[in-house]
Amino acid sequence: MNPAWPGGPVLGVESSCDETSAAVVLDGRILGHVILSQDAHERFGGVVPEIAARAHLRQIDTVVEETLREAGVEPGELAGVGVTAGPGLVGALLVGLNWAKGFAWALEKPLVGVQHMEAHLFANSLESPDARPPFVALLVSGGHTLLLHASAWGSYTLLGQTRDDAVGEAFDKVARRLGLGYPGGPEIERLARDGEPGRFNLPRPMLSSHHTPADPAYFDFSFSGLKTATALVAAELESEGGTGLAQAVPDLAAEFQQAVVDTLVAKVLRAVEWTNCDRVLLGGGVARNGLLRERLRAALGDTGTLYSPSPRLATDNAAMVALVAEHRLQAGEVSGLGLNADPSLPFPGLKPLDSLADLGMKPRGAPCIPS
Ligand code: KG4
Ligand code: ZN
Repeated sequence: MNPAWPGGPVLGVESSCDETSAAVVLDGRILGHVILSQDAHERFGGVVPEIAARAHLRQIDTVVEETLREAGVEPGELAGVGVTAGPGLVGALLVGLNWAKGFAWALEKPLVGVQHMEAHLFANSLESPDARPPFVALLVSGGHTLLLHASAWGSYTLLGQTRDDAVGEAFDKVARRLGLGYPGGPEIERLARDGEPGRFNLPRPMLSSHHTPADPAYFDFSFSGLKTATALVAAELESEGGTGLAQAVPDLAAEFQQAVVDTLVAKVLRAVEWTNCDRVLLGGGVARNGLLRERLRAALGDTGTLYSPSPRLATDNAAMVALVAEHRLQAGEVSGLGLNADPSLPFPGLKPLDSLADLGMKPRGAPCIPS
């Protein structure tokens, strides 16, 4: 810990996509937290960047005011301010970032920029103090699908990522094709409850021909082909006329969800095997999916551990941003007012997997426990 860090509550601000959110965190605990989702995008079937930026601008003052009130903290009592600097929609990011800059400057508080996906990695530790490295993490959101190994906070090895669509994006696009609402993930999950997977036969991408870790695609994902396969089934049902597609939607949704979950679980198990670490952490909006959590928990058995955030902390929120900021400020890291938004801000400390030796694999059976 940085001896110069005075301690005290940290304000976090998040505006990378379509949630305007603020939170106050103190010593890893949430004192106040407000998340305002924008439902104006529903009728467009996806987030409209210009609408998102304007909505953030309208809402941000109220969201922060309400958060500070809930936390019982005066602006002057804050020890620092953290804000998402990327990745995300640039117009949306700029609203939160410029707001946070102005606020930090006026109050003479240190400002720290936070990478949004690293914040998803921290989200679990707001609820489970044990959710700290080492672990294998699966981050699944609307824009990213990342499988990584964390040996310490800030020290990550990228195992796999999507080669095309992110998993949440595939849920959203398939939902749209099936005439369901946005966001698509919860809609597909709801309909799949009444459906029968197996009536349709969809592919399990990147599993069958990628059997060994020497294959560069061993840990990678691809959801574009699965999305197209689902759309082709839908088109075939439509071409038969009548209510064929409408009646088949629950079965098709169930099979699609099953195919996604089969793939995600298989890749996580590969990562668990090759890192010899059965502490698995889920993050991002798709972590809300009940089947994914259930199947991962079952696959890890009694010996493994799954950390999955509550629904509120799985999707975009500022508490995870405030927590990363507190961590950084404790370490003496400050961004300063030159901080800019970067729509493709890289994941800090994330190294590519050059060789399996990189994983620092322990002898089989050695425990994977936090120090
Ligand atoms: O992390 P997030 O809130 O925003 C991004 O950073 O992208 O993730 C949003 C994504 C959307 O694609 C949404 O469809 C998906 O998470 N999602 C789900 C579920 N709830 C949200 N996907 C599958 N099942 C769910 N229950
Ligand atoms: Zn996110």
